[in-house]
Amino acid sequence: MVKIEAVIKPHKLDAVKEALVKAGVAGMTVSEVRGFGKQKGHEDVAADTLTIEFLPKLKIEIVCPDEQKDRTLDAIARAAKTGKIGDGKIFVSPILDALRIRTNDKGESAVR
Ligand SMILES: Nc1ncnc2c1ncn2[C@@H]1O[C@H](COP(=O)(O)OP(=O)(O)OP(=O)(O)O)[C@@H](O)[C@H]1O
Ligand SMILES: [Mg+2]
Repeated sequence: MVKIEAVIKPHKLDAVKEALVKAGVAGMTVSEVRGFGKQKGHEDVAADTLTIEFLPKLKIEIVCPDEQKDRTLDAIARAAKTGKIGDGKIFVSPILDALRIRTNDKGESAVR
């Protein structure tokens, strides 16, 4: 299993959610976060300033079986893209185990 964490522009949430449901994800978690990337929160790369601004972003977390990883990444990347700076980033990390509390399903069965 993998955890996919995507930091996206807030106005892209509905598009990303729909793409993920179409891609067949079994669940997701969304949080309001703040962050900065290469431009340190400014609107263009050339911004000549020493200040660093945190911009509001949304973080989407999905845990899925390995074989759903690529399809999930593609769905997010396609739906979240505007082509402008600040479109976001996606991180992937390994997940050791999962458990559905109601049924005690463990491992991949908990995230299908
Ligand atoms: N290396 C990182 N580690 C953790 N979070 C990051 C990292 N890079 C970006 N983020 C998060 O992703 C958000 C969006 O980043 P952003 O898309 O601006 O990345 P970028 O590298 O500056 O790319 P771009 O040049 O397209 O803007 C940031 O506000 C931050 O929350
Ligand atoms: Mg940036």
